[in-house]
Amino acid sequence: MTPLVMDPKLTYNNKFGTFRHSDMIGKKYGTKMPSHNGRGFMYLLHPTPELWTLVVPHRTQILYMADISFITTYLDLKPGSIILESGTGSGSFSHSLARTIAPNGHLYTFEYHEERAKAAKQDFERHGLSDITTIECRDVYKDGFGITDLVHAEVHTIPIYTVKDAVSKIKVQQDKKRKRSEEESSNSKAAKSPKIKQDPPNLYVSKTPTEAKGHTSYLTFATFLPVLDDEVEIIDKVNELD
Ligand SMILES: C[S@@+](CC[C@H](N)C(=O)[O-])C[C@H]1O[C@@H](n2cnc3c(N)ncnc32)[C@H](O)[C@@H]1O
Repeated sequence: MTPLVMDPKLTYNNKFGTFRHSDMIGKKYGTKMPSHNGRGFMYLLHPTPELWTLVVPHRTQILYMADISFITTYLDLKPGSIILESGTGSGSFSHSLARTIAPNGHLYTFEYHEERAKAAKQDFERHGLSDITTIECRDVYKDGFGITDLVHAEVHTIPIYTVKDAVSKIKVQQDKKRKRSEEESSNSKAAKSPKIKQDPPNLYVSKTPTEAKGHTSYLTFATFLPVLDDEVEIIDKVNELD
């Protein structure tokens, strides 16, 4: 599989033959494309995060679909989610995250290696993801995340020592969100706004089994715990006692 950026002046050659870009431009995705010299064919596929993960230039070790889908499901990420990711690396995970949270979510992603940050930014721009991603060249261990926006979830694909920072960060936001939701519910009794449990968030550390292609290092991710309706009253009572 090869990613191609179309340019009518170019020709793509592989062992199956010669393919002129000008022959491909304007064709529907899924088209079976014979080579110019009739030696073979290829399929023109619509770009997706899954395909990008298969072809992304490896500037680092990357995340694969086994881990990406597990984390995405576990954190209940969806359109509108605001996510914090470190490190961006080759941007494999970022592409899936961006697709999941589109059209109105946001991905804040951090990479301390300047060249990698630049390359990932270019990929995001070329793939139309700039509006929903913000990439910053920053050492999150030394300098933190610098985010004041509320985030729904954090994903760290860098060594485990950043976890402490991750926990404290999400805890501060958790408290802020809770305060805000309390203010809202006292202003309007109509609809109960979602409340957030005050326990520190659970952290899950996954290690990919050897039979699945995956990230060989640690993955750390965290989100808020959902609160059931009957728990809200208990939490309120506990808060009154505090
Ligand atoms: C394993 S790669 C991430 C793979 C990436 N998530 C992907 O799917 O392509 C880890 C990346 O984290 C970056 N990194 C490590 N420590 C960091 C830190 N303290 N702050 C920011 N980035 C860091 C590294 O430069 C490297 O590019």
